Amino acid sequence: MKIIIAPDSKQAGCYAGSLLVPLFTKIEPVRLGLATGKTMIGVYQSLIRQLAAMSLCPVAHVSTFNLDEYWQVPPNHPGSFQYFMHRYLFTDLPPFLEQIHFLRGDAEKAEDECRRFDTLLSQEPVDTQLLGIGVNGHIGFNEPGTSFSSRTRKVQLSPSTIKRNALEFPGVMPKAALSVGIANIMEANNVILVACGEDKSHVLSQALCGSVREECPASILQTHPKVTVIVDKMAAQSLIKYFSRHAIQPLGDGLSRVEIDENSV
Ligand code: GLP
Repeated sequence: MKIIIAPDSKQAGCYAGSLLVPLFTKIEPVRLGLATGKTMIGVYQSLIRQLAAMSLCPVAHVSTFNLDEYWQVPPNHPGSFQYFMHRYLFTDLPPFLEQIHFLRGDAEKAEDECRRFDTLLSQEPVDTQLLGIGVNGHIGFNEPGTSFSSRTRKVQLSPSTIKRNALEFPGVMPKAALSVGIANIMEANNVILVACGEDKSHVLSQALCGSVREECPASILQTHPKVTVIVDKMAAQSLIKYFSRHAIQPLGDGLSRVEIDENSV
């Protein structure tokens, strides 16, 4: 696992955006797993900026798959993740997009909708899965205690997620969601996790340097062969205490990098 520490959230977003750019400059089909949340806004803005600066001849070759959606929230609701994605990314990307895939929060039957989405994901792994992390360690909406073998399904949100996400949700905060499972996430060829801010510091150190356990869903990423974690200094506060000083290598532009293996932790 590679960890990139950026001086602030803006630069963390730029770095994450720069890792996504090569997927858009290819011409062969790309399957990209996308996430929502405040952290992703900077990543998407930076991606759009970097692509615009390249004056490419866009080819529609990217298929996207969003991780999750609130249950019983229609796509045009301003609190839906589909609405978020159109607002922060898709409106500016159409020439690159072959197809966008969402779990539908307004589906008639959650079980059928999850099966449909799981089948799409199972056809072929996504090339890259972008992830944020909840302050309780959730990835997607896989809350603490979720089985590591879970697949796409309807989930109940934890009280802490409901409380936190209610601050951003316009209207009555849903108590359930549809989410891809941990097993789906682990099938991605590459994973990019982005986390910013002091309130992610504790959970990040648990997820990346603590024991791998279902109580901390993101900890499973320690067992994935290709993970890049991008954090700002605030989010890295607890994490860096686990590394010896020489393990943290400067990368230029105020960025530093740590490779986690048995010698550096
Ligand atoms: C939501 C999403 C998660 C995301 C998390 C972090 O709960 N379901 O996929 O990781 O938000 O959000 P933020 O970046 O706003 O802290």
